[in-house]
Amino acid sequence: MGIILSRPGIYTPENIITNSFLEKIIDTSDKWIIKRSGIKERRISLNKGIREMGSLAAKKLLDQELITDQKIDEIIFATNLHDQNKEFPSHAGYVANQIDNPNAIASDITAGCTGLIYAIRQAYNNMVAEPNLKKTLVVGGERLTDMTDYSDRTNCFLFGDGAGAYLLERLDNEEGIINNVIGGKSDIGSRKFPSGELSLENKLGVKLISDPKIEYNQIYLKQNYLVMNGKKVFEFAVPIMEHGVKKVLENTKYNLEDVDAIIPHGANIRIIDSAKRKLEKNGFKGIIYTNLEKYGNTSTASVPIAADEAFKKEIIKKDDLIINVAFGAGFTWGANLYRAI
Ligand code: UT7
Repeated sequence: MGIILSRPGIYTPENIITNSFLEKIIDTSDKWIIKRSGIKERRISLNKGIREMGSLAAKKLLDQELITDQKIDEIIFATNLHDQNKEFPSHAGYVANQIDNPNAIASDITAGCTGLIYAIRQAYNNMVAEPNLKKTLVVGGERLTDMTDYSDRTNCFLFGDGAGAYLLERLDNEEGIINNVIGGKSDIGSRKFPSGELSLENKLGVKLISDPKIEYNQIYLKQNYLVMNGKKVFEFAVPIMEHGVKKVLENTKYNLEDVDAIIPHGANIRIIDSAKRKLEKNGFKGIIYTNLEKYGNTSTASVPIAADEAFKKEIIKKDDLIINVAFGAGFTWGANLYRAI
């Protein structure tokens, strides 16, 4: 008997912010953004909050034919924000109601972009410790565009909105989740970024809102916005992706040669390519799949958004040995090793 990680269900908003739109509002170019990050476009949720997107992803997942019994015992929702603190208490409690499981244990977890990897580990450990937990839903949902200052050209091209969900379930004759590792390294900031290299700052910034006449309207608003020392985050990210992959294989019967696919957090194609080169030197022969060029950095939702596409295109399939790996604000990092269902 194993505890499987299902295929994901996802939700991505319809509205797209293209690089050419950003060229109109900040001093940048499509070429620069693609070269530095690999991102061509990202989605913006103009009318749905984090919990609504998360619920839609969860419903999509539960509608899949493979999932028949819909009783969920626990829900863990990974996110970075509660939509400018307007949403209270947990997103997970809201999802529980939306998917007709009002009695599910429900709580949220915040661990930067690694949140969903942390949530999968937490859900798995709870199920190992408590045999009465049969099914756990983990959801990652983000609306990073809501805390992006579209006058800050150093980071506004990176972020996008979306949600993804997985189910953990006990199943006979399935290997399922094999190992999870997580870690942290305090982001103590620096002179220019006193509250952290990746943190929030209360300031006047530009927000995008929908406008039927033009693409998006820009308004000035004082609120919390993301501020980031890109170089410092980059320096943390590159070695930690490789470290996460190696660490999750430690003390298992598998090594890099056995891994069919890695689904990395989609933050920047240069971070992923650099990790790929190092892993290939150490024997990795599988594929690394991301679709960050279409969605930007959707934080906790980026792994399921990429995995969903990879499963649908049959780039990854049943019985593949897969690693999810991520890093994020905090700083945090983590990885899950599992056999696909
Ligand atoms: O989930 C965690 C989230 N965060 C990350 O993963 C971010 C990690 N960091 C990064 O991905 C990269 O640091 C960025 C993509 C954000 C930036 O790339 P970079 O190679 O570190 O660029 P930079 O900040 O060193 O900027 C290089 C130049 C600067 O000009 P000078 O000082 O060399 O004259 C910037 O002013 O590019 C300039 N620049 C831009 N130019 C055009 C900064 N932003 C832009 C822009 N368009 N949007």
